[in-house]
Amino acid sequence: MTPATDRSFLHEDNADLIFSPLEFRQLTVKNRLFRSNLSGMFDEYNGYGGHTRLNWEEKFARGGIGAIISSYTPVSVRGRILTRYAMIDHDDKIPFWREVGKRVHDYDCRFIMQLSHSGRQQDLGGVENLYKKGLSSTNQKDFFHGLLAQAMTVAEIHQVVEQFGALVVVDADALFLDQEVRGGQRDLQARGQRDRAQGAVRGEQRAVGLG
Ligand SMILES: Cc1cc2nc3c(=O)[nH]c(=O)nc-3n(C[C@H](O)[C@H](O)[C@H](O)COP(=O)(O)O)c2cc1C
Repeated sequence: MTPATDRSFLHEDNADLIFSPLEFRQLTVKNRLFRSNLSGMFDEYNGYGGHTRLNWEEKFARGGIGAIISSYTPVSVRGRILTRYAMIDHDDKIPFWREVGKRVHDYDCRFIMQLSHSGRQQDLGGVENLYKKGLSSTNQKDFFHGLLAQAMTVAEIHQVVEQFGALVVVDADALFLDQEVRGGQRDLQARGQRDRAQGAVRGEQRAVGLG
């Protein structure tokens, strides 16, 4: 049998596929166009997002992208890669991210947040992290950039797992769920999501030998 090559398909075949829905277990995206996870340093130093990012994310949704993957979104100041990126380290950031969600959902675009902890890759940790090494799995410096690292203690690993887990719960309860769930279903589904999120945290803890 002759293997299929690019030439086996017409432009229309490709277009049909690209503009057909893509289904994940819990997520359906209207087409196969994804905005990759990138941003500029255009948020506030302290991790609050602003109008520049709102407009930046919305622009892709308005252009027809099916799903936006956010730039790295730190779950803590200690674990941020560089400054002036919107963070999600505290409940006070939720209204901003909810507005991002609303803006892109208006165009039937999904928003996938890249929750992040820097590890060794602390390119520009900011004054709060001055003289601190990146919290990592190892004491070895990064072989390419020479970024310094220190292996996390078990307590520190617990803390980072909690930081991710808390955000998953916040995500389900407060962030985007409002957009998806109506009326009386909300509590039930929020509880289901919270249970699943907590299960995921426990799974994560098991994966790193803590649970
Ligand atoms: C300015 C800039 C910021 C980026 N920020 C992130 C990021 O926050 N998270 C991430 O996983 N990748 C980030 N990336 C990597 C991009 O997602 C990646 O470049 C893109 O997927 C295209 O892949 P390629 O560079 O291999 O072609 C960034 C890239 C650029 C140029």
